[in-house]
Amino acid sequence: MLYPYTYATSPFDLVGWDGFLYPYALSIYDFEPITGRIHQPPPVHQTFQAWGFVICSFVPRLFDYHPLAIPAPYNHSNIDSDEVLYYAEGEFMSRKGIDRGSFTLHMGGLPHGPHPGTVEKSIGAKATEEYAVMLDTFKPLYVTTQALQYVDAAYPMSWTPSES
Ligand SMILES: [Fe+2]
Repeated sequence: MLYPYTYATSPFDLVGWDGFLYPYALSIYDFEPITGRIHQPPPVHQTFQAWGFVICSFVPRLFDYHPLAIPAPYNHSNIDSDEVLYYAEGEFMSRKGIDRGSFTLHMGGLPHGPHPGTVEKSIGAKATEEYAVMLDTFKPLYVTTQALQYVDAAYPMSWTPSES
């Protein structure tokens, strides 16, 4: 047997809903870094996580402060993700030829790390003033034809030692 149920008002008669279906905004200037005596793993920079990707923030911070620490990051090949970095402000210690506004894309499995000479240069450095945002995806990204016009063909060779 069916019984009718009549609402006192229409459930569609509403103006808004104070739930969680609105975008979040977080200024990178409000992101507090986690530092340590030895090199901290990438998740300490993680700011947001969603299905299929994470976003990390690199902000001004102390470098690793163990007396024998080497501040430059180590070489790696993030085998499970593509990695996009946007360099927003500051001096980017581990990269040569990177300026404000630069984007890099390191496909999953591509070995990369500090440019030649930057590891040695980083020793003794106490802090960085950089601002950068990283997007790590867990499925491969596709580069559009529009983006291809901005490819720096010399970038992959920037890891080779310079002649000077
Ligand atoms: Fe990386």
